[in-house]
Amino acid sequence: MGVGRELLNLVVERIGRKGPLTFAEFMSLALYHPEYGYYMAGVRVGREGDYYTAPAVHPVFGALLAEQIFEMWRLAGGPLAWQIVEYGAGPGWLAGDILEALERHHPDCFAATRYEIVEISSALRAVGERHLRERFGPRVRWNPAPGVRAVEGCVLANELLDALPFHLVRGEPGGRLSELYVGWDGCRLVEVPGPPSTPRLEEYFAAQGVRLAPGRRAEVSLAALDWVAEVARTLVRGYVLILDYGLSAAELYHPDRAGGSLRCFRNHRLHTDPFAAVGEQDITAHVNFSALAARARALGLEVLGPVPQGSFLARLVPLLARKLDLAQDLKARLGLKELIFRMGEAFRVLVLARDVPAAPLTGLQGRR
Ligand SMILES: C[S@@+](CC[C@H](N)C(=O)[O-])C[C@H]1O[C@@H](n2cnc3c(N)ncnc32)[C@H](O)[C@@H]1O
Repeated sequence: MGVGRELLNLVVERIGRKGPLTFAEFMSLALYHPEYGYYMAGVRVGREGDYYTAPAVHPVFGALLAEQIFEMWRLAGGPLAWQIVEYGAGPGWLAGDILEALERHHPDCFAATRYEIVEISSALRAVGERHLRERFGPRVRWNPAPGVRAVEGCVLANELLDALPFHLVRGEPGGRLSELYVGWDGCRLVEVPGPPSTPRLEEYFAAQGVRLAPGRRAEVSLAALDWVAEVARTLVRGYVLILDYGLSAAELYHPDRAGGSLRCFRNHRLHTDPFAAVGEQDITAHVNFSALAARARALGLEVLGPVPQGSFLARLVPLLARKLDLAQDLKARLGLKELIFRMGEAFRVLVLARDVPAAPLTGLQGRR
């Protein structure tokens, strides 16, 4: 029996036992079930996979982030012990590219750096361990009890938050909200509207002053807000660098986007049916940067941005261009073009800071 069939049976069995699942519960099983989840089957990004992320485009992405991280380290006073904690590092390509660039261009910062990876998929951890251990030895560690350790350094998340399980909701007449659960009609998975599973869903919209029009669908990532809270709890001093595709609340809940932003990816094809190939396709939604920023501010972090990824990377290019001969490196130039122009507007960069100078960070210069 295929993995998809095993997983579907498991979802159906769970629905039979508990009743309809929240979409977030369904998504946790579909993407992260320890045996059959989509992310447990190994590398999913790149040409052979289902979609591209920036680290899969070209190592120049990691080299540019290394320039920004080096500057953060310098602004923090160049501490002798500095952590980079990357959440959702996948196969560890970005970690390798950042460490490589720091070692080559900023050896003092490299010497101070311990790179810690928090990755939920054991299969991806194993891929990362193979190439990073060999190259960087004990400088890289996996899954340091997150939420427990104090962090001084830079917390990094590239395309993590869009992949966290989210709730699905719909506006109803009279300003009410219904939640869209996942049920089974005897033949297939179906959406089942019901009352919200938690008061946090209504609070989420109230906090943003958003009222969903009747019939309007939206995704709510309480997990993304909980992640910000976890990071705020552990970050003693330093920065948080979040890169992801997403929008402000005003853009996300604009009447033109009434269908929501749920997207699925399989074999580089994009569609909107999360029940089509359970466990064999990625499921994502746009990040709500306004909600993240508000949560971070409420937790005492300074908020910088978000800015479009294109302008963020473009501002860092001159720092790297002095070290690399970009004029001679056609592949790096093509990579930059892809990262800055094709992915540059849809992806945004949000920086959070605690107890460190928040400006001037080169990637954010001219934008606040
Ligand atoms: C869309 S992929 C991005 C991978 C990589 N950052 C990149 O840009 O290529 C999302 C990654 O986040 C991981 N992930 C999801 N939830 C997580 C969690 N709660 N803690 C740590 N990693 C998580 C997934 O296993 C997956 O590797």
